[in-house]
Amino acid sequence: MAAFLSSLLASSVLLSNAVNAQNFDGNGRSDDAFSYVQPLNTTILTEYGSSPAVYPSPNITGVGGWEAALQKAKAFVAQLTTEEKADMVTGQAGPCVGNIVAIPRLNFSGLCLQDGPLAIRVADFASVFAAGVSTGASWDKALMYERGLAMGQEFKGKGAHVVLGPVSGPLGRSAYAGRNWEGFSSDPYLSGIAMEQTITGHQAAGVQACAKHWVGNEQETQRNPTYVNMTNEKTFNAVSANIDDRTMHELYMWPFANAVKAKAAAFMCSYQRINGSEISYGCQNSKSQNGLLKTELGFQGYVMSDWGATHTGVAAIEAGLDMNMPGGMGPYGLQFGVPSYFGGNITIGVNNGSLAVSRVDDMVIRIMTPYFWLNQDQNYPSIDPSGADLNTFSPRSTWTRNFTLSGERSRDVRSNHAELIRRHGAAGAVLLKNVNGSLPLKAPTNIAVFGNDAGEPTQSSVLNQVDYEYGTLSSGGGSGTGQFSYLVTPLQALQSRAQQDGGLVHYWLNNTLIANGDISTLLIPRSQPDVCIVMLKTWAEEAADRAHLSVDWDGNDVVESVASYCTNTVVVTHSSGVNTLPWSDHPNITAILAAHYPGQENGNSLADLLYGDVNPSGHLPYTIAMNGTDYNAPPTTAINTTGFNDWQSWFDEKLEIDYRYFDAHNITVRYEFGFGLSYTTFNIANLSISALASNITSYPEAQPVQPGGNPALWDSIYAASVSVTNSGKVTGAAVPQLYVGLPSSAPAGTPVRQLRGFEKVYLAPGETQTATFELMRRDLSYWDIISQQWVIPEGKFTIYVGFSSRDLVVQDTVTVVG
Ligand SMILES: *[C@@H]1O[C@H](CO)[C@@H](O)[C@H](O)[C@H]1NC(C)=O
Ligand SMILES: *[C@@H]1O[C@H](CO)[C@@H](O)[C@H](O)[C@H]1NC(C)=O
Ligand SMILES: *[C@@H]1O[C@H](CO)[C@@H](O)[C@H](O)[C@H]1NC(C)=O
Ligand SMILES: *[C@@H]1O[C@H](CO)[C@@H](O)[C@H](O)[C@H]1NC(C)=O
Ligand SMILES: *[C@@H]1O[C@H](CO)[C@@H](O)[C@H](O)[C@H]1NC(C)=O
Ligand SMILES: *[C@@H]1O[C@H](CO)[C@@H](O)[C@H](O)[C@H]1NC(C)=O
Ligand SMILES: *[C@@H]1O[C@H](CO)[C@@H](O)[C@H](O)[C@H]1NC(C)=O
Ligand SMILES: *[C@@H]1O[C@H](CO)[C@@H](O)[C@H](O)[C@H]1NC(C)=O
Ligand SMILES: *[C@@H]1O[C@H](CO)[C@@H](O)[C@H](O)[C@H]1NC(C)=O
Ligand SMILES: *[C@@H]1O[C@H](CO)[C@@H](O)[C@H](O)[C@H]1NC(C)=O
Ligand SMILES: *[C@@H]1O[C@H](CO)[C@@H](O)[C@H](O)[C@H]1NC(C)=O
Ligand SMILES: *[C@@H]1O[C@H](CO)[C@@H](O)[C@H](O)[C@H]1NC(C)=O
Repeated sequence: MAAFLSSLLASSVLLSNAVNAQNFDGNGRSDDAFSYVQPLNTTILTEYGSSPAVYPSPNITGVGGWEAALQKAKAFVAQLTTEEKADMVTGQAGPCVGNIVAIPRLNFSGLCLQDGPLAIRVADFASVFAAGVSTGASWDKALMYERGLAMGQEFKGKGAHVVLGPVSGPLGRSAYAGRNWEGFSSDPYLSGIAMEQTITGHQAAGVQACAKHWVGNEQETQRNPTYVNMTNEKTFNAVSANIDDRTMHELYMWPFANAVKAKAAAFMCSYQRINGSEISYGCQNSKSQNGLLKTELGFQGYVMSDWGATHTGVAAIEAGLDMNMPGGMGPYGLQFGVPSYFGGNITIGVNNGSLAVSRVDDMVIRIMTPYFWLNQDQNYPSIDPSGADLNTFSPRSTWTRNFTLSGERSRDVRSNHAELIRRHGAAGAVLLKNVNGSLPLKAPTNIAVFGNDAGEPTQSSVLNQVDYEYGTLSSGGGSGTGQFSYLVTPLQALQSRAQQDGGLVHYWLNNTLIANGDISTLLIPRSQPDVCIVMLKTWAEEAADRAHLSVDWDGNDVVESVASYCTNTVVVTHSSGVNTLPWSDHPNITAILAAHYPGQENGNSLADLLYGDVNPSGHLPYTIAMNGTDYNAPPTTAINTTGFNDWQSWFDEKLEIDYRYFDAHNITVRYEFGFGLSYTTFNIANLSISALASNITSYPEAQPVQPGGNPALWDSIYAASVSVTNSGKVTGAAVPQLYVGLPSSAPAGTPVRQLRGFEKVYLAPGETQTATFELMRRDLSYWDIISQQWVIPEGKFTIYVGFSSRDLVVQDTVTVVG
C-alpha cells in the first residue's frame, strides 16, 4: 500500500455499466532489453488480442475451513442497512492508515488496517523487524513463521486488525525495482514459501494478513497516472504490465497462490494497469480479480484497493474489488478532500438498481468472514490512542466520522522480540567472500571502521522514511518502513566488542574524505590495522525505482581507497538487494558480507557474525551479475511518445528473470542465486528419489477448488532426500537446494532449472542429517495455455541438489508420468 503518494483520480461518475476490463495474452517483443525507453508497438498491442472479461464476481463459499465463520458473517450482514453496508466497504480518515467505522448497535467496533511488511509503522514502543529481503535470504522456514507470529502479536497488541503485508508483488522481475526489498526473493518458489509462513504466523497471532500487491506491480515508475496540477485531468495513464498467461501463472501468480493456500484474509490489488486496455487497472481488472484470484485460486477473503488505486465505483466492484482504501482521497496532495467512488455511491447504486445488492452483500461477507474466523469479535485490543497522534496520513483534522479511542496509551508491544530480531538480522546476511582466514575475527585489537553506514543517523531517529547521508540503514523507505524505538549501530556494537578484547576502534564516516584521502595518513596508530571494516549502504523506497545497482554515496571509491592500503579489508553492505560489487576480486578485500536490511538490532546482528558467535548461513535470494547492464527486464522509465496510454511495460523476457535468464544464456555472474558461504564446510551425498503416488497422470484430477486452487496441485507426488554433512570444524547451518529441470517435451521457453525445494539444516562438526524435499504436482508442472491447466510433461526430469543454483552437487533423472 502506499500511504505516501500518490496520484489518484476523482472525477467521472461511476454508476456506469460494468466496464469490460480487457486482457491480453501476449508474446514477445524483440527490441533491446536494456533500453529504458520501450516504444509503443501497436502491432503487438493488437497481436496480444483480448481475452474474455470475467463476470460476475464469484460469491464466497467458505470452503476450506471458513464455513462456520461464513455463517456468522451472513447473519451479521443480514442486520445491516444499505448505508452500513456502504460503510463496511469504504475506508474513512481515522486513527489508522486504513479505517472501517464501527457499528455500535451490532457490537462491531470497526477495523484498523496498518502498514506494513516489516513493522507496525505508525506506532511507538514497537519493533522494527528484519526486512522481507533479509527474511528471504535466511532460507529458513521456521524463522519466517517466527517473524510472522511476533509481528502479528505486535499489530494485535496495538489494536490493528489487519497487517498490510506480506509482499510478493513486486516479485523482483527487475533488479532495479524500488520495492523488491519489501518482498522476499525474485524466485517464486522461495517467495511462495515465505508468503505462506509469514501469513500463517500473522494469523496465528490473531491478525489478518493482506497479501500485496496483486499482480504485476513490478515497477514504481508511472505506477499511477500523471495528473495535471493536482486536478483530475490526466496527461498519461498508469503503466501497463503486459504479461503473457504462462508467465503470469509460473512467476507472478505463483507466490500469491501460496498466500491463498495459507488462507490470507485479504489481498491488495495494485496500482498499475494489467495487459493493456485503458481501464485495466489492477483494482478493476475482472480477469485478475474475478478470474485468476477468486475463481482459479479459490480466494475466500476480500480484495482491498491500494491507497488511491480505485478509479471507478460500479465497474471496479463488478470486476471484483471488495473494499476501497483509504476511501475518499483525491489526486496527490488533496488527501481526503474528495468523496469516495464507493461510500454514498454504493447506496445510490443499490437503491437505483445499477448495483446488485447481492454483490455488495458478498463484499461485506468476504470482509467479515476472516474477522469471525480469527475471533476478532472477541476481546480484541482497542486501537492504541498514541497511533492516532502519530498518523500523519490522516491526522485528526481530516476525520469526518466518529472514532472513540480508549485503552492504554503507548502500549509497549515489543516483548522479547529484540532477541529474535537480532537472530533474524544475522540469518539474513550472506557471506559472499572469505579468504585468508579473514572471518570470523579473532579478538583484533586494532580495528579501523570506514563508511557512512557505520554510525548513528546524525539528524534524528525519525529519519526512516528518507535517504540520508550519515547513519546506518536498517530498512528502506515508504509504507514498508518502520519507526525505530532504538537502533543499534555497527559502530556501537563493534566498539563494545573491541573494548571487551582490550582493543581500539578508530573510524571515519565521511565517504568523500575516505574516497579522496590517503587512508594510511588517517590511521591512528599509523600501522596496518588488524582489520579494516568498510560499511556501505544502498537505499530503495516506494514510489521510485533504483537509478543504479551500485552501492550509494561513492561506496565503490571508498572500497578502492581502503583496499589500496588495508590488506585485510572486510566490506559490509546494508542494502535493499542487488549490488554489483565490481571490486569483489580485489586481493586486499578478504571478506564481503551482504547484510541487507536487518532491522533494529543492526549492529548486534553484524557483530555476532563478524566475531563468529553466529555462523553465517544466509544465501542470495537473487543473482549478483558481473555488471548492471547484464540484467534484462529493466523498468520502463520513459516514453518518447505522447499517447495517453503509451506507458507500456512488456514482460517479453517471459520466464527469464534473474537466474532463469542468466542460466538460459550461459551468462557468467559474480555470485549466483542461492550462493552463500559459512565458517564451516558441508557435503551433500546420496540423492534418492521416490514416487509418493502411483500412476501419475499428466493432468491433475479435476477436484473442487479449495483455497490455493485445485487441491490436486498441492499433492506431494515425489520425494527426494540427500544426506548433508558438516565436514568442517564449527557448528553451522547448510541450505541444500533442490532444482528441477523439466523434460525436453516441455514447451519452448521453459527455464533450464528452477528451485523447487530447500531446507535449513543445523549441524555440529562431523554430524550428518537427511534432508527431505517433497515435490508437489505444481512443482513438476508447467502452465499449459491451451488447456488452462498445470501439466506434467512426459520424459525425463532432472533433479539436482546443491548449495546454490550453480553449485549442483548431486543429480539424477526420473520419469514422472505413468
Ligand atoms: C512491432 O511488433 C511486430 C511483431 O513482433 C514487429 O514485426 C514489428 O517490427 C514491431 N514494430 C516496431 C516498430 O518495433
Ligand atoms: C451470490 O449469491 C446471491 C445470494 O444467494 C445470489 O443472488 C447471486 O446470484 C450469487 N452470485 C453469484 C455470482 O453466484
Ligand atoms: C453486544 O454486547 C452486549 C454486551 O456483551 C450484549 O449484551 C449484546 O447482546 C450484544 N449485542 C449484539 C447485537 O450482539
Ligand atoms: C499549474 O498551475 C500553475 C499555478 O496555478 C500555473 O501557472 C500552470 O500554468 C498550471 N499548469 C498547467 C499545466 O495547467
Ligand atoms: C460518487 O463518487 C464521485 C467520484 O468520487 C463523487 O464525486 C461523488 O460525490 C460520489 N457520490 C456520493 C454520493 O458519494
Ligand atoms: C459522534 O458521536 C456523538 C456522540 O455519540 C454524536 O452526537 C454525533 O452525532 C456523532 N457524529 C457523527 C459524525 O457521527
Ligand atoms: C566530508 O569530507 C569532505 C572532503 O574532505 C569535506 O569537503 C566535507 O565537508 C565533509 N563532510 C562533512 C559533513 O563533514
Ligand atoms: C594491498 O595492500 C598493500 C599494503 O598496503 C598495498 O601495497 C597493495 O598495493 C594493495 N593492493 C592493491 C591491489 O591495491
Ligand atoms: C559494464 O557494462 C558497460 C556497458 O557494456 C561497460 O561499459 C562497463 O565497462 C562494464 N563494467 C564492467 C565492470 O565490466
Ligand atoms: C523512441 O525511442 C526508441 C529507443 O530509443 C527509438 O528506437 C525510437 O525510434 C523512438 N521513437 C520515436 C518516435 O522517437
Ligand atoms: C549453454 O551451455 C550449455 C552447456 O554447455 C549448452 O548446452 C547450451 O547450448 C548453452 N546455451 C546457450 C544459449 O549458449
Ligand atoms: C496403474 O494403472 C494400471 C493400468 O491402468 C493398472 O493396471 C494398475 O492397477 C494401476 N496401479 C495402481 C496402483 O493404481
